[in-house]
Amino acid sequence: MADVAIVSAGQSVFTRSCGESIRELAFEAFKEALEGLDITTGDIDASIICSAPEYDKQRSPAGLISEYLELTPKPSFYVETVCSSSSTGLRVAWSLVKSGLHKMVAVIGFQKMSELSSRDAAERMGRGADIIWESPFGLTMPAGYAMYAQAHMDKYGTTEEHLAKVRVKNSHYGATNPKATYRKELSLEDILNSEVITSPLKKFDCCANADGSSCIIVARGDVAKGITDKPIWIVGLGAATDTMTMAGRELLTGLKCAQEAARQAYKMARLKPQDIDVAEVHDCFTVSEILAYEDLGFAKPGEGVGLIEDKETYADGTIPVNVDGGLLSKGHPIGATGGSQIRTIVRQLRGEATEAQVKGAEIGLVHNIGGIGQYGNVTILRR
Ligand SMILES: CC(C)(COP(=O)(O)OP(=O)(O)OC[C@H]1O[C@@H](n2cnc3c(N)ncnc32)[C@H](O)[C@@H]1OP(=O)(O)O)[C@@H](O)C(=O)NCCC(=O)NCCS
Repeated sequence: MADVAIVSAGQSVFTRSCGESIRELAFEAFKEALEGLDITTGDIDASIICSAPEYDKQRSPAGLISEYLELTPKPSFYVETVCSSSSTGLRVAWSLVKSGLHKMVAVIGFQKMSELSSRDAAERMGRGADIIWESPFGLTMPAGYAMYAQAHMDKYGTTEEHLAKVRVKNSHYGATNPKATYRKELSLEDILNSEVITSPLKKFDCCANADGSSCIIVARGDVAKGITDKPIWIVGLGAATDTMTMAGRELLTGLKCAQEAARQAYKMARLKPQDIDVAEVHDCFTVSEILAYEDLGFAKPGEGVGLIEDKETYADGTIPVNVDGGLLSKGHPIGATGGSQIRTIVRQLRGEATEAQVKGAEIGLVHNIGGIGQYGNVTILRR
């Protein structure tokens, strides 16, 4: 069966409020992805539209966006796993191309969150947890991850300072990313003194809601080689689902869905954690990045804080992580986030990152989590 490659990746600027309709927002990423490619919209066989529902008023956005991007009459459909929707979209695109059904597929993620107040967005996001047994009792996303933070602190002695150091790093790199919502470097004191959201997480331990879009174009290997001299190969894919209820989880010091997705992706790619040159991980909260270090095998359980303490996840460290600023700086427009992470790794592997470029990066990993830690997606890319 044919190999599958990414031929191009684009994203809009991520912002608190874009002032555009969702179709115009999707166009921003699509336009960047098509720039410099000698193809037309007619060459794209299918489009996969990814977002979390109910943040804007439009129902069935796949039809609307495919019409606006002139992708009709080719098939277009909707994929959703909350915050990991566009990584799931990439997995579906890979399957469609690998099966021989299509030769080129566009994965377009978007989210327009600014139509809702921060309070309504938190309630809407809470519906990504169990709406009968858990979210009505206050289980918002920050509250769920605060439980993970508390469990990690209790078991391994992790401190609020350790968590804050993740945001120090990510704000440092976010300051160089022209597409990030927040481009201001934050000090340890700024973070530790920010308002408590849900203890132990403070405002700057949290990512912010944002508007944004992303677009990844995937093609059959031979087609990809005809379009670009820098195809980026999809060599490992992993996906897993944990219980939706927090009460059903066996583990609170790591995400089982991420551990399982990582195991599958490394196996498919025949690679180990030590082989990864650069990674994008789902830092929806500072603690999430520490959990990711451990779930991906970059550190042993309980030893993730050592990586941030020793600056090993900075661009010149042993395993650079989120050197585009991560969700913490870029903002987290739910359906667009996975595609934005993939775009960063594509640019890193092509040596085209305008932010911090990791020298000689050949293999990159994307870790994208959906909901309150129930959907895990890990993708490994190679140049
Ligand atoms: C942390 C949080 C509760 C703050 O919400 P809030 O107190 O209602 O804040 P608002 O959204 O009203 O913003 C108030 C100000 O703080 C800023 N701000 C909000 N969150 C921020 C963050 N994480 N980092 C930096 N600044 C932030 C806003 O830009 C705004 O500044 P401005 O008035 O100059 O524009 C909210 O950002 C949040 O819920 N984040 C988590 C999102 C989430 O769960 N995503 C899914 C993860 S799986």
